[in-house]
Amino acid sequence: MANAELIENLNRALGLELAGVIQYMQHSFLVTGPEREVFCGFFRDQSKEARKHAETLGDKIVALGGVPTVEPGEIRQSTDLSEMLRQDLELERVAMEAYTASWRACTDAELATKFLLEERIAAEQKHVEELEKLTNERKANVTKERITLRQVG
Ligand SMILES: [Fe+2]
Repeated sequence: MANAELIENLNRALGLELAGVIQYMQHSFLVTGPEREVFCGFFRDQSKEARKHAETLGDKIVALGGVPTVEPGEIRQSTDLSEMLRQDLELERVAMEAYTASWRACTDAELATKFLLEERIAAEQKHVEELEKLTNERKANVTKERITLRQVG
């Protein structure tokens, strides 16, 4: 008997990954100025990774007896790099929610799917953290930390 709640949440994650494929690609097209040198490649790599994630999700959904969605989630665009990064962070965060909801929907019979989702959740968390740093939402608090310089020799 197919786990409808799991399939529904995996499909939500799939729609968001499909949105990620297009949104990151669009950002790679739209980024201009000196930042283009670095961020065009960054956005294209993210797009490719979202595509790989979408592929494993689609395969898993069929294996579980479901039909993969062909509808991407909301796609956002901007010509401002900071705004693009904020849009990408928001997309990664909703994808994370879909992955954790999928993980919670796994029964004891779906251990392998649970493991797959755990790996994915760890990878998505890294994206969220990196985008939090790129948008300056996350910063080390160095004002309270003292760096002790030790004399060498
Ligand atoms: Fe992903």
